[in-house]
Amino acid sequence: MSNDFAFDNDAFQTSGEGLPSRPERLLEFSLTNAEDRPYKSYHGGLRMNRLKGKYILITGASQGLGRQLAIDFAREGAAAIAIVSRRADALEKVGRSLREASPEARVLIITADLSREEEIERVVATTLNEFRGRLDVMVNNASSIGPTPLPYLLDYPLEDFRQVIETNLIAPFLLIKKTLPAMIESGGSIINVTSDAGRIGYPGWGAYGISKFGIEGMSATWAAELDGSPVRVNWVDPGEMNTEMHRAAEPEEDPTQWADPADVTEVFIYLASDEAKNVNGQRFEAQEEDWGRKAEAAQSA
Ligand SMILES: NC(=O)c1ccc[n+]([C@@H]2O[C@H](COP(=O)([O-])OP(=O)(O)OC[C@H]3O[C@@H](n4cnc5c(N)ncnc54)[C@H](OP(=O)(O)O)[C@@H]3O)[C@@H](O)[C@H]2O)c1
Repeated sequence: MSNDFAFDNDAFQTSGEGLPSRPERLLEFSLTNAEDRPYKSYHGGLRMNRLKGKYILITGASQGLGRQLAIDFAREGAAAIAIVSRRADALEKVGRSLREASPEARVLIITADLSREEEIERVVATTLNEFRGRLDVMVNNASSIGPTPLPYLLDYPLEDFRQVIETNLIAPFLLIKKTLPAMIESGGSIINVTSDAGRIGYPGWGAYGISKFGIEGMSATWAAELDGSPVRVNWVDPGEMNTEMHRAAEPEEDPTQWADPADVTEVFIYLASDEAKNVNGQRFEAQEEDWGRKAEAAQSA
């Protein structure tokens, strides 16, 4: 791809806000994911349109959880989805899956290294330009695990430490800061992705865990400062998933014991939807009963 971003004109079937009518029931999925496993079935194939008309930005959407979120958001009727990561070829492949999942959705592919401020600037400018100033949902999902095998802090190279913090913590901070004026305009949902490594200092999880401690605190602070505004900020621990990041971090473990990303997207759909329009400042655990809210309430009581 010669450009830094590509607007998918094939998927550009509506010029205005309205979406064309479409069947509620999806055909059986014959798509395959990046690892060429078949998609999980989804609500028995029932399309619920919970994100109908939404304009959405997802970082780290070239694989793993971000890729699955993009696909499930498209199936839920999102009007436009911007997908961001460093690898153009992987994003193009996800773009094709999105077109198959929802031919009506606009797909905006942006290759960018989120550890660099000027690239974040470009991501925001491109997205808001192509979405005509509108952004309803942003998922800060992109993350770097850092060097593997996971070194202890004493051995952690400074450059790697900086790169992980830039990608996992400073990028979400800047993305929120720079998109906030647009999100305030029409109201919006910011969803930050955290981890249990953001609550427990596991040996070896170094800069990654520290960045997640940071994103928990930053999410709570943004949420408190935005309380009463039309923008809400919540954060989700997806739990252990079978993804490249997790396989690299724990190569000695059996990855089949971990969830498929397709099993954890429901809480993200809820938070992105209008059903959660009054939910702000909460931590969710995608794989726990009641998404961990009861446990959270008990803890803070
Ligand atoms: N997997 C788990 O068990 C687990 C558990 C708890 C929390 N999480 C969290 O869930 C989220 C998704 O993780 P995952 O397991 O799906 O990871 P993954 O498969 O490694 O995907 C990470 C994504 O981030 C992108 N990315 C990394 N560095 C980037 C950079 N500098 N600029 C732009 N994009 C970048 C990657 O794309 P490119 O390589 O194309 O840039 C990729 O799309 C992360 O926030 C992670 O911390 C995961």
